[in-house]
Amino acid sequence: MEKHEKIWVVDLGSQYTQLIARRIRELEVYSEVKHSDITAEDVSREKPLGIILSGGPASTYQYGSPSIDERILSLGIPILGICYGLHLIGRIFGGKVVPAKAQEYGKTELQVVDTTSPLFTGLNPELICWMSHGDILAKPPQGFTVTARTFHSPVAAMENRRRNLFAVQFHPEVTHTPWGMNLLRNFIFDVCGATGTWKVSSFVDESIERIRELVEDSRVLVALSGGIDSLTTAVLVQRSVGKQLFCIFVDHGLMRLREADQVEAVFKRQFAANFRRVNAAERFLRKLRGVEHPERKRKIIGAEFVRVFEEEASRLKDVRYMAQGTIYPDVIESHGVGSHGKVIKSHHNVGGLPKKMKLRLLEPLRDLFKDEVRKVALNLGVPESVVHRQPFPGPGLAIRIIGKVTRRKIKLLQMADAILQEELTSSEIYTEIAQAFCVLPTIRSVGVMGDRRSYGYPIIVRAVTTVDFMTADWARIPYSVLETISSRIINEVPEVNRVAYDISSKPPATIEWE
Ligand code: XMP
Repeated sequence: MEKHEKIWVVDLGSQYTQLIARRIRELEVYSEVKHSDITAEDVSREKPLGIILSGGPASTYQYGSPSIDERILSLGIPILGICYGLHLIGRIFGGKVVPAKAQEYGKTELQVVDTTSPLFTGLNPELICWMSHGDILAKPPQGFTVTARTFHSPVAAMENRRRNLFAVQFHPEVTHTPWGMNLLRNFIFDVCGATGTWKVSSFVDESIERIRELVEDSRVLVALSGGIDSLTTAVLVQRSVGKQLFCIFVDHGLMRLREADQVEAVFKRQFAANFRRVNAAERFLRKLRGVEHPERKRKIIGAEFVRVFEEEASRLKDVRYMAQGTIYPDVIESHGVGSHGKVIKSHHNVGGLPKKMKLRLLEPLRDLFKDEVRKVALNLGVPESVVHRQPFPGPGLAIRIIGKVTRRKIKLLQMADAILQEELTSSEIYTEIAQAFCVLPTIRSVGVMGDRRSYGYPIIVRAVTTVDFMTADWARIPYSVLETISSRIINEVPEVNRVAYDISSKPPATIEWE
């Protein structure tokens, strides 16, 4: 198959690296993130149409700060440096990067000083851009001209057209730079010469080809969790290698009320004889007994999952691969941002894997955001009702029960959650909510029921709106709906005497409580 034109995004530690890649895909040009250790030979061999150097939190003058193979800058391939990427190009060509006297964060006025710059074609010379930096390039290096500046950044954009090198201090990839997509479009189409033929269907075709090449005639085991990510992975593998796929759904007993049976029905229809459900609730509960720490719970559940899969796999012949529905936000939050970042939270399907896993991992959705996975799922023919289901975390209710997980608490939480889902589904706001669930904390509080004082648990209701699950806002559920949810939970769920609504955004909170 003919390879698509592509743009590489070199990760220098920015939290936005994947966002840049995603923006390029939105422009229908294939784009992938590369580690900063790529060489000039890699570039010459793979021939990306252009390269974008991401931002990053480091300072180029610090010892050990990320860099790139400098020969790449002399290949003549168009390169766009963003933020740290600008500093890096500046330093490599002899410019001076220094701490800014006044740091620029947030919305900043930008003055385009060279309107003939291909990056700024069609744009107003007075713009608002989004900045986030503590260093500046004091002067452009020899051969470069300044194309834009701000009050505090003498070099807010620069270029060397002869060498095909461009750089901007601000972030065109974030929505706070409203015309940022125009700049990226100018770079991708006018400077790099892309034509924009990449579509979600191209991603599907290329993934199928890659999976076939990789697994050859061995069997692939897919871990189904009940969520859209693992189901999409499984359908993709099914399209690639047909009956070599075998799906296992481990019921860890931590799903919502009746959900395990519902998803089993969907899987049986899709995968027929190549599907098996393993009832492992007892095993998981035993391992989780007495465990309070969220990260320990995730690790235990992740490890137990893999163990169950390995046991199942050992009964099947020729299995060498296990496919997982890891998506980009899982990667970013488990391993930290990009290849230079810090860990935020270990998602069970990424961080919890034991070191000595016998099966090789296949993660075809690893570079995608949730809404991109949904597009892929629809393209593969997964029914809309399944595609638009709310995401559910791999470790399930274990991370929504704060502290120790017991059978009784699972039951209470399942009951409360079922009420929440029923009430939201019948209200008009449901389609606006990305994810809604209940949390059961360890604390108890005093209440009064009938003539008696009670000492019961609160249930915390969490409902968020979000597009990519990287940031989220709390959903403005009407008071009348909250009122029904609260009174039904308190009346119908034993040991619960209070309902609280979580009104925190992400960041600084996360969507889940653990
Ligand atoms: P947070 O809580 O990190 O959640 O804001 C972002 C999204 O990820 C889901 N989530 C998980 N999914 N394994 C998963 O498969 C996990 O360990 C995990 N933790 C959080 C969460 O439900 C939300 O959709």
